[in-house]
Amino acid sequence: MSNLHAKGRNFLRAPVFDWNCRDFSNQFIMARSRLLLLGFLIALSTCCFNTVVLGQTTPENEVSAMKAVYSRLKDPMKNLRRWGKGDPCTSEWSGVICAFDQKDGYLHVRELRLLRRNLSGTLSPELGRLTHVVILDFMFNNISGSIPKEIGNMTALNLLLLSGNQISGHLPDELGYLPNITRFQLDLNNISGPLPKSFANLPKAVHFHMNNNSISGQIPPELYKLPQLIHFLLDNNNLTGYLPEELSMMPKLRIIQLDNNNFEGTEIPKSYTNMSTLLKLSLRNCKLQGAVPDFSTVPKLLYLDLSYNKLNGTIPTNKLASSVNTIDLSNNQLDGTIPSNFSHLQRLQNLSLENNYLSGDVPTDIWQNLSFASASKLLLNFQNNALTNIAGNLNPPPNVTVLLEGNPVCRRANELDITRYCGNQTHTREDLPNTSNRTCPSVNLCPVSGGYEYVPDSPDGCICSAPLGVGFLLRSPGISDFPPYFEMFRHYITSNLQLDLYQLQISTPFVWEKGPRLRLFLKLFPLYTEDQFNETALQDLVDKLATYTIPGNDTFGPYDLLNFTLSGPYEYYDVIPTSSGMNKGVLAAIVLGSISCVAIIIMAIMFIFLKVHPKKQKDQEQKEKTATVPMKVDGIQRFSFEELSKAADDFTDRNQIGQGGYGKVYKGMLADGTVVAIKRAEQASLQGQKEFFTEIELLSRLHHRNLVSLVGYCDEQNEQMLVYEFMTNGSLRDILSGNDGAARYGNPLNFRVRLNVALGSARGLLYLHTEADPPIIHRDIKANNILLDRKYNAKVSDFGISRLFSEPDTDGSVSAHVFTNVKGTPGYVDPEYFMTHKLTEKSDVYSLGIVFLEILTGLKSISHGKHIVQEVLTACQEGQMFSIIDRNMGAFPSECIEKFIALALRCCEDEGKARPTMLEVVRELEDITAMLSQSDTITSELDSSGSAIPGSLSLSIYRRSTYTSGNDLVSGVIPTIRPR
Ligand SMILES: *[C@@H]1O[C@H](CO)[C@@H](O)[C@H](O)[C@H]1NC(C)=O
Ligand SMILES: *[C@@H]1O[C@H](CO)[C@@H](O)[C@H](O)[C@H]1NC(C)=O
Ligand SMILES: *[C@@H]1O[C@H](CO)[C@@H](O)[C@H](O)[C@H]1NC(C)=O
Repeated sequence: MSNLHAKGRNFLRAPVFDWNCRDFSNQFIMARSRLLLLGFLIALSTCCFNTVVLGQTTPENEVSAMKAVYSRLKDPMKNLRRWGKGDPCTSEWSGVICAFDQKDGYLHVRELRLLRRNLSGTLSPELGRLTHVVILDFMFNNISGSIPKEIGNMTALNLLLLSGNQISGHLPDELGYLPNITRFQLDLNNISGPLPKSFANLPKAVHFHMNNNSISGQIPPELYKLPQLIHFLLDNNNLTGYLPEELSMMPKLRIIQLDNNNFEGTEIPKSYTNMSTLLKLSLRNCKLQGAVPDFSTVPKLLYLDLSYNKLNGTIPTNKLASSVNTIDLSNNQLDGTIPSNFSHLQRLQNLSLENNYLSGDVPTDIWQNLSFASASKLLLNFQNNALTNIAGNLNPPPNVTVLLEGNPVCRRANELDITRYCGNQTHTREDLPNTSNRTCPSVNLCPVSGGYEYVPDSPDGCICSAPLGVGFLLRSPGISDFPPYFEMFRHYITSNLQLDLYQLQISTPFVWEKGPRLRLFLKLFPLYTEDQFNETALQDLVDKLATYTIPGNDTFGPYDLLNFTLSGPYEYYDVIPTSSGMNKGVLAAIVLGSISCVAIIIMAIMFIFLKVHPKKQKDQEQKEKTATVPMKVDGIQRFSFEELSKAADDFTDRNQIGQGGYGKVYKGMLADGTVVAIKRAEQASLQGQKEFFTEIELLSRLHHRNLVSLVGYCDEQNEQMLVYEFMTNGSLRDILSGNDGAARYGNPLNFRVRLNVALGSARGLLYLHTEADPPIIHRDIKANNILLDRKYNAKVSDFGISRLFSEPDTDGSVSAHVFTNVKGTPGYVDPEYFMTHKLTEKSDVYSLGIVFLEILTGLKSISHGKHIVQEVLTACQEGQMFSIIDRNMGAFPSECIEKFIALALRCCEDEGKARPTMLEVVRELEDITAMLSQSDTITSELDSSGSAIPGSLSLSIYRRSTYTSGNDLVSGVIPTIRPR
């Protein structure tokens, strides 16, 4: 189970085409042709009735606003895929959802969904120009700075979701001008200053969730004008002044939660007892004084917490609403006796009266009428009062806890037989009831690593399917004990998500957090007929949860979405859609709208033609299946053949910059001026479509400064192309061979640059081995695949033949290595891998070692039939180590070179075990770099003959037996090298 955000990666993924799942692909294709038809119809109607619609775009001011928003954000984990490039609506910026507006013919940014994307930086005032945005969600990031007053211009804004950041500064008055806002979710920030009076003018505001900030000053009495407000959550702030009695005039207010503020010396307004809608009043630790108001007139009350104040007088004796489950009046200065009016409360869970001055009898009938659920428990905490007697016989059932310690009555504990209530007991909460009647096989037949789990209660018995994990917080529940409400909660969630009961599991233990708030982890399972959610179903669930469409529930109060856990088959889904996730019909219309009307009509005719010739249609489908399988990858652009052909000047030879087993590589310039490298597969390329998509899918998820980034791809007209960022300085091989002409003008690769290239390559590979999830073995590391950018930083390229670690074998178990046909390039292939066919990350270490030797010597991995390892070892053996160092390298400190050669040769050990790990390689290179920086004076320089031998030679000891060069097994015994 991998919690994606915990791994610091974007947990919102593009749905990647699942190659192992035929059904899915067929469905996809069918859905696609239906979509196409829909698209035709929409596009045709657009065409015929709205004159011509060509290439819809986003208005310029929104594009620039989005770019400004981006410029203020810091995105260390590179979670804002595609941001900053092109148009936010048509270039698939992740988390940006757009909609097409019929009225003005533009696309508009409609939602920014950026929950938990590890973002920092600040919110740009330019947000104010996004006047079509309905949802602004930056929850649980590290955004700092203040809320720009310009947000007040986002007139369409419905949900302002900024919980869980570092936002400071005041709440701008301008937020009170948002005519459509329903939800302010600003809790868990550092917001200070007053609650603006202007907030009283919000006609649609339903939720004020602003707890856990430093909001100060008086609560504006004007807020009573809020016609729709139901949740007023400002606990844990720095509010002062008094509690306005006017709040009771809010017609819909259900929850007032203001704990941990400071209303020193003021009283609880009597008017609050007249609120016909009030469910929960929580005023813990607010320095309130005066009497406890009589809440018997509140008809639906569930939860009353007035603890930790300075309330005095007696406890009102009128009967409370029978719905009440929690009464906490503890830690006040209440006197008098415990009234008898609690005994009719059938749902009571918690009556806390401890630390007061209550006297008289301990009632023994409070639990008489309890009748709710079998899991019900009741806590009666009367500790530290002045209770002197027991009214009758104290003999509660086991699920009722009575605490009497610290009362005078406990001095007679033995006599009254109440010792067990006088001890220092604590009320323990139980885990959730086990609702399953079935048990699944204890042998784990479910592929655990695949993110699958048993669903015991499905109509089909124990099935194995992959859940969507949801972190869910009840932020102000109206109960203090959850198990009795467990079933109710399951019904509440499943009915609103249109799931069957068995499709929801609630993980135990659940956690009560300060507040108190209840943190739950839900697992939502697909229908029992499926083993995983299809994309649409998953998307639907995520949309419902992320946009707060589950209606509030009186018992459970407002909820918050904390995270999604997408593992197993969903790992690569971007469930917060990119801009392409907008209404699919609209998308199709846009796509087609950019084609001319004539073309559409021709296509429509063709479509009809194909329909009346089923065989041809079948052929067409067949072709679609094999030639143009659609896929969506977050952050990766899909190019048409025309676009790329234009970019590369019809793929003229002049633009060819490389050639691989896969095909030719061309330099090209995209319409927006970006220079790219286009890898065009040859028709008869051995790399199948599978490899093609493997590479796209892998690359789209990998982001590291030492990896070449994928910009886009093209898969049409029997063409497969990959579009990469262009590397100005070509490949390491080119530069070492002087192919680029650089040598003529003085080879730029001095020792420091070479060391940096080595380090960069190693870091890129370390990322692949350890950070990528699942880890990736490159399998084809060679100097041709190390590219250099403008500043000669190394970037590893070509993941075309990468294979994933931990790929399940056919029997479903996971082995530590992957059995596979040997792939790679002669000269670089790990001899152990070659012999055993067992691929491990040490194979990459070997190949990288070869690259290091090339960096050091300038030689090719195999030249004149000799393998580079053999060459270097021979030189070392003859004490001529420095004679094989590349003459173009210039000056270098000998001890650095020695260490580097030693490292390279260790990487090239025959046995994987003997080679360092990639991490060790990186560490060692970092050490050498540090050493280089320290040696201000160059200690050794090659003379023109290239045969200079420096003084201290302290090579480590190598003993080698056999090694392979490519497919040839070469043997040789290498003697120990000793310092002179
Ligand atoms: C709360 O307000 C008081 C004065 O009203 C001030 O001294 C204190 O620093 C404030 N606390 C915070 C956390 O802002
Ligand atoms: C409650 O306390 C206030 C002052 O804190 C005092 O004026 C009042 O008389 C007290 N009431 C009772 C019933 O003790
Ligand atoms: C306590 O447990 C019994 C038996 O399990 C049950 O009937 C009752 O409803 C439970 N709840 C309370 C609060 O007594």
